Amino acid sequence: MKAEIALPTAKAGSLTRLPAASNWRNGPATPLVQRQICGWPVWLKLEKENPAGSHKDRPTLLFVAFLLLHGWIGRKPMVLIISSSGNCARALAFYTTGLGVKLIVVTDALSPVEQIESLRAFPHVEVVVINDPDATGSHAIARKKFVEGFLKKHPNAVCVDQYSSSFFPRGYDSLVEEIEAQTPGTVSAIFMSAGTGATGLCLANFKIKKRRRWKLFLVDATSSALFGKPMGKRLNSGYGNGKPTSWTMLATPSIDAVIRVPDAAAIQTCRRLSQNDGLHLGASSGATVAAFEWLATNQPFEIPNFGFPVLICPDGGHLYSSTVYNDQFLRDHGLNQLTNGKILTNSN
Ligand SMILES: Cc1ncc(COP(=O)(O)O)c(C=O)c1O
Repeated sequence: MKAEIALPTAKAGSLTRLPAASNWRNGPATPLVQRQICGWPVWLKLEKENPAGSHKDRPTLLFVAFLLLHGWIGRKPMVLIISSSGNCARALAFYTTGLGVKLIVVTDALSPVEQIESLRAFPHVEVVVINDPDATGSHAIARKKFVEGFLKKHPNAVCVDQYSSSFFPRGYDSLVEEIEAQTPGTVSAIFMSAGTGATGLCLANFKIKKRRRWKLFLVDATSSALFGKPMGKRLNSGYGNGKPTSWTMLATPSIDAVIRVPDAAAIQTCRRLSQNDGLHLGASSGATVAAFEWLATNQPFEIPNFGFPVLICPDGGHLYSSTVYNDQFLRDHGLNQLTNGKILTNSN
């Protein structure tokens, strides 16, 4: 006799579908503020106004919603582990609060102490700080090793991998849609820093799929190996990387240009924006504004002559009080005389 196979809950023809990524957003849009930079009116998209303080809220909320929808969390205890320099981990900590999750965050010595402290404030979070830099000053390889070792010992734990989970590029659809809704038909170019490259890939995919005419500029650190040979040790956290990522490699054919900014120029721009423009922003936002200034000064013909450029500012300056905004930190790194430095494009 043939054994009968019963599917206990699924009705014939029933499928569980996730709504479009942007439908998970239930908060207001983050602000878009206008400033004059090098004589150009530009829009700055302030992602620090997301509930957990950065653009990482978007993919993380999508990921947690998926786990909840499928009963992975919320009903039984679950261990999640993430390697993050801060923002993604904080978003994950924020959205998993009260859901029976234990979250292990693997971060490193480059992360500002205020990032680490903000994570330790969550009762369900355990923070592991790795201090094992490679030749470029990146701790990414050592962090990866730690996560692999943890998963071997705890096979039921789930790793939230920003570098391979497609929740990450998909989760930024709401960001692009929001920008376009706030600036109907007037975006001329979008500037975004790259770390994992997930936001850059989302922007690249969106541009191609929807046949947008805006240009896409990605911003990297000269000390990063994402888009070329790294120069010097990395100082800033959040953006840049010790090696190319799958997201940056997928995005590269659809990027108009990469602008690489020295860490000192990013820091100097952050401090100037904070003092003169009422904008207290994180290091990657400073790098993005510095990249725009470099382009507007040196190759203004690269900026389309319709509409307005949009500069995405991933997080706020309060997470960098001990680094970017700390004079002693600058002195310790020989930056007491901040100079503009040389900014390279991918054509150099
Ligand atoms: C402050 C900050 N800026 C920029 C980025 C880069 O975003 P992405 O990882 O999508 O490339 C990150 C990512 O970790 C970040 O935390």
